[in-house]
Parts: sequence; C-alpha cells; structure tokens
Amino acid sequence: MKAVYPGSFDPATNGHLDIVTRAARVFDTVLVTVARNPAKTPLFTMDERMAMLQVATAGLPNIEVHSFDGLLIEFVQAHGAQVIVKGLRAMSDFENEFQMALMNKKLEPTVETMFMMTANAHSYLSSSVVKELARLGGCVTGLVPDVVEEQLKTRFAEEYGAGKKG
Ligand code: PNS
Repeated sequence: MKAVYPGSFDPATNGHLDIVTRAARVFDTVLVTVARNPAKTPLFTMDERMAMLQVATAGLPNIEVHSFDGLLIEFVQAHGAQVIVKGLRAMSDFENEFQMALMNKKLEPTVETMFMMTANAHSYLSSSVVKELARLGGCVTGLVPDVVEEQLKTRFAEEYGAGKKG
C-alpha cells in the first residue's frame, strides 16, 4: 500500500523523521511530499527542503521525496496512493487536521487519512520552534537530523558564532 506524508518541512525535525520511519514500517512505499504553500514564506527553498529530506531518509529504501503545488488530494490521486499520513502532537493540532481530513475525504472518499501520535520525546517540537531557537543562537542538536542542523548553522552562522546557548 502506498501512503503520502505531506508537510511544509521547513525544515524537517526529528519529529517528522520519527513519523516517516514508523510509516515506512507500515506501508510499502511512503511519498514524503513537500508542499509549496504560497501563504507561507519559507526559510528554505523547495529544493533545499527536498535535499535535506533526501539525506535524512537515505537509510529508508521505501521512502521517496516529492513536492506538490495545489491540492494535496490531486497529488495523492496522481500517484495512486491510498492513504495520507499525518502526525499529531497535541490537541491543538487536532482541529485543523480534522477539518483537512474531512475535506480530503469529501474530495476523494476512497483515500483515508491516518494519524500517528508523535513520540512523547518529540511532542514539543515544531519547525517554527526549531527555527526560532536556531535564529536566536540556541543549540538544535538532537532536535533535527544532522543535515538540517548543518544547514541551520550555515543560515544563522553569526548567531551560532556568538556563543549563545540553548
Ligand atoms: O507542515 P504543514 O505546514 O502543517 O503542512 C500542511 C499541508 C501542506 C499538508 C496542508 O496545508 C495541505 O495539505 N495543503 C495543500 C492544500 C490542500 O490540499 N488543502 C486541504 C484541502 S482544502
């Protein structure tokens, strides 16, 4: 069975990687799919986000990294996937995810959205909080894949060099 795991991944965190790894054990193929969201101004370009995901998931043979623009369900249909995988961290995620799952179900009733509970250790992690930490010179080791840490260090080199702590 083929699943799509969509997100902005700006950048991918270890919380995302945990969901990808677990989804890869459940489904034959998982398409990790980076959204081009015109409503958001990303820190990393689409190519950078995809490249980081490719490195971070290199050890998982049944993962493919893709991108999409527009409706998620159209990407899912075009790739013949049956399931959308989403991670849930807290109740605050639920309302928005519930609405999107129902809308996608209305658009394509044969596709299921399946939720995975984020591991306890990652429940406080988000791309936004990681970016803020890095921007303010904090240490992101253990919160993001190594490749993402390197990119954040490069992006915020001045802050890292200032010797501030996380
Ligand atoms: O990582 P994010 O930003 O929470 O990911 C959200 C994303 C990109 C998965 C979601 O916004 C999405 O599916 N966008 C595509 C547009 C769409 O299909 N919306 C739902 C039906 S209107």
